[in-house]
Amino acid sequence: MSTVWTFLWPNTVRSSRTKWMPFSVLHLQKASNWTWAPPPTERGVRPVASRPRPKKKRTYAQMQTRQQRASAEKSEHRPGAGRERKLQKREALPPILIAALDVLARFRATQEPIQNIINPILKNRRFGNRDRNEIRDWVFQLQRQQSTLEKLLEQQVNAVGGVPPDRRMKDLALLLATMSAEMKATFETKTEDLLPESLLSFVQTARDEIQLEGLPPWLFEKLQNQFGDQAKDIEKAFLQKAVPAFAIDTQQADRQGIMKILEEAAIEVRPFSACPDAFWSAQHLPLSRLPVEVAQHVWPMDLGSQLIAHLVGALPSDQVLDMCAGGGGKTKALARTGCKLVATDVSNKRIIAAQKRSGLQHISFRCLDMTKPQLAEGMFDRILVDAPCTGTGTLRRHPDLLSRLNSEKVTEYVALQKQLLQQAERLVAPNGYVIYATCSFLKEENQDVVSWALENLNLSPVPLNELRPEGVLPEHQLEQHTLNILPHDFLSDGFFVAAFSKQ
Ligand SMILES: C[S@@+](CC[C@H](N)C(=O)[O-])C[C@H]1O[C@@H](n2cnc3c(N)ncnc32)[C@H](O)[C@@H]1O
Repeated sequence: MSTVWTFLWPNTVRSSRTKWMPFSVLHLQKASNWTWAPPPTERGVRPVASRPRPKKKRTYAQMQTRQQRASAEKSEHRPGAGRERKLQKREALPPILIAALDVLARFRATQEPIQNIINPILKNRRFGNRDRNEIRDWVFQLQRQQSTLEKLLEQQVNAVGGVPPDRRMKDLALLLATMSAEMKATFETKTEDLLPESLLSFVQTARDEIQLEGLPPWLFEKLQNQFGDQAKDIEKAFLQKAVPAFAIDTQQADRQGIMKILEEAAIEVRPFSACPDAFWSAQHLPLSRLPVEVAQHVWPMDLGSQLIAHLVGALPSDQVLDMCAGGGGKTKALARTGCKLVATDVSNKRIIAAQKRSGLQHISFRCLDMTKPQLAEGMFDRILVDAPCTGTGTLRRHPDLLSRLNSEKVTEYVALQKQLLQQAERLVAPNGYVIYATCSFLKEENQDVVSWALENLNLSPVPLNELRPEGVLPEHQLEQHTLNILPHDFLSDGFFVAAFSKQ
């Protein structure tokens, strides 16, 4: 580029901005293979590109200013960095532990949802399914127990004194504390050797106390107001690991046949009575090692999510809209009924992912903002509004979301949920059904939004059994127009669902 500028920029025209413009544009037009060269500086003089001179390294002691020291903090000059480098050495730690530490470090730096951070890290490092699940388990377990563990760690370090451990060392100690005895045994000799005495004794103490932490008091209070005595069970369920659940594509595969294959492979599975196409297993399925029918027609999906799709009760003759299709989990489950399906989402990235995930040609995927009038009025027999929400029902799998939750967020979601319901009312045919769902416990996003819709929209409540879902839910639940799916009911995420019909 500097050659271009020297050529375009003879001394005669350098001094004035007005003179150089036509000159350079002329040359650029003539030489069509040239790209746009940057404009000169205000004074009209191009700085000559020079090679960067190698910087002279200083020792930490030679750094005088705060800025120099701050940048050194991030680099190799920092005191204690040697010990950290030792920790980072590939051969010092098992790769899956390094990956878990990297996820935590990136989460602290960006505060992005852990799920968004984990996936690229795991993809880049080519872990197998088992390793991925272990890394996820550790990181989520750590997030669930974070504040108890941090408090314990602080007490321990204060009691012992000495140099405070750096962040990575602390993370390692916290991770080791969250590991089950079985996982820990694999790494014990390699990792615990690296910990100083204070952190090692913390790991041992923490193991006994790790089950202590509950939900933050404000959330627990909300749960108590809504669910009374059940609040304790909900809290307990949140502190446990999610149970692996799976969906079967019963359009393509025979349910009995799949169950038989799993039984023969000595995989313990249990059917989910509320929803005939779902089952849960004591372990993650090694899909790549099982016969191809299983890998092709079985996919992991939370039981609560499956139940929502199932409650929609779509018939093969129905025109159905999945209004907030997201990653396409429920879309794929809805498609099993053979209905005519349109799936929309405001996020192009998600709708592309949903399309890939479904692998189905007969679903129409559209990237649309559904708070605006889109598609033809009254064209759908059933609409699922799986609304964007705070996600408090998924705390077990996304314990990090609590740190991002606040009352403004709740208000924003509620406004969005109302707009989406308004559009659903427009799009549904007379006597058609709108099924509103969230994965939240908050009354503001559930019962309050339903009351608003009943007052302000041309929608009336219908009992869930009018949607004709097959399967077994207690009759008293199906007679209601709303249902709370609580995490301890089916060891699933928590959901709320409400059914309306257009008058
Ligand atoms: C709870 S998630 C949906 C989960 C999905 N149904 C599934 O089963 O995986 C909510 C979705 O609503 C989408 N969304 C948010 N605002 C929207 C809008 N204005 N129009 C359409 N979709 C929207 C988000 O992009 C997000 O994917």
